[in-house]
Amino acid sequence: MHGHWNGSAWCWNQEEAVAAPRRSALSGGSSFRFVPRRNDFDKAVVMNEAAAASLQPRTAVRETLVSADQFREGMRQFASGVALIASSHEGRPVGLAATAVNSVSADPPSLLICVNRSASAHEGIRHSRAFSVNLLAVEDAHMVEIFGSSARRSERFTDGDWHMTTAGVPLFRGALATFVCRVAERVEVASHSIFIGEVVAMPAQAAPRDPLIYFDRGVRALEKADV
Ligand SMILES: Cc1cc2nc3c(=O)[nH]c(=O)nc-3n(C[C@H](O)[C@H](O)[C@H](O)COP(=O)(O)O)c2cc1C
Repeated sequence: MHGHWNGSAWCWNQEEAVAAPRRSALSGGSSFRFVPRRNDFDKAVVMNEAAAASLQPRTAVRETLVSADQFREGMRQFASGVALIASSHEGRPVGLAATAVNSVSADPPSLLICVNRSASAHEGIRHSRAFSVNLLAVEDAHMVEIFGSSARRSERFTDGDWHMTTAGVPLFRGALATFVCRVAERVEVASHSIFIGEVVAMPAQAAPRDPLIYFDRGVRALEKADV
């Protein structure tokens, strides 16, 4: 969004920028003093322009797509929690380990998950239009390997305290928090589907524990920073 400085005030569009001085001339005469209308956003624009001007030297950025490896290398530096996403397909529970989980809005309560379309759980989520997001505690770090590796697919719902809702959504009782979602929207982006889930239930969980952290291709425990 761009504003225009008409000499006295920031305006949202060209018409307003031209009209404002005309209004001031008509109503004011020589004694009229035009008071600039500045809201907080206007002030932020001015301040950000000053900040931008102080960012020297300028770095030339070539705007071509970076390689997949370069991208992965950067994303490795993003620390996140880990979730087990679970659903059902043809009467059987399906799931995967996932870090691509994010809050979307609190009202209505909704979150998003990004699931590779080649993941065995993808079709279950797509067809049942329901899934759970189970946030892992550090004690359950071993579940990442089970839910993240195709070779261990058969072990996925044999380890841990799993329950099934009547609608066929598996819930992990050991999670820090569990969000039961119904799919409100699915968007295909490259190799993945982004599912937007409306949160329809949050079953009570065990006592609070520390979350599991995933960073630089490995699991970690949380440590408080000294600030
Ligand atoms: C820590 C971790 C995070 C992952 N995050 C995601 C994710 O957000 N989305 C996704 O589609 N796959 C993710 N994966 C990969 C899936 O867990 C994995 O491809 C899947 O479980 C393989 O099982 P399948 O052969 O039954 O599909 C992640 C794996 C690990 C280990």
